Amino acid sequence: MAALASCGGGGGSTPTTPSGGTSATPTPTPGVEVRVPLMAVGETVAASIRLVGGLVTPLAVTRTGETQVVAVSRVCTHEACTVNLPTSPLAALECPCHGSRFQVGGQLVNGPAPRALSTFPARIAGNEVVITGV
Ligand code: FES
Repeated sequence: MAALASCGGGGGSTPTTPSGGTSATPTPTPGVEVRVPLMAVGETVAASIRLVGGLVTPLAVTRTGETQVVAVSRVCTHEACTVNLPTSPLAALECPCHGSRFQVGGQLVNGPAPRALSTFPARIAGNEVVITGV
């Protein structure tokens, strides 16, 4: 009997992949580009990108320096809850379900999540950040 209730939190959490613990690695659709307005250094904004199979995964896009940006999946690698955006510049992304925390670049700070968030190629192009599917 497979239960779908993986996060228990309900509310604002939106798992974007089926439960199962190991299915949280998204496969971006080749060629897809997502553009968001360039933010201030240290700022993180929400975006989303379409994956193979049509799933849309939420992203956290952070400008970590004058010329550096990072884009990570907000799908927690524990049980696929959506991690929160940082509450202050360059602070951790926190999972509301069981408390895992990640750096804005996706690196795992503390579990129970078993690994880092998935990352997506991102670059600054003029006044935009461009995130690509591959
Ligand atoms: S889903 Fe359990 S810590 Fe994120």
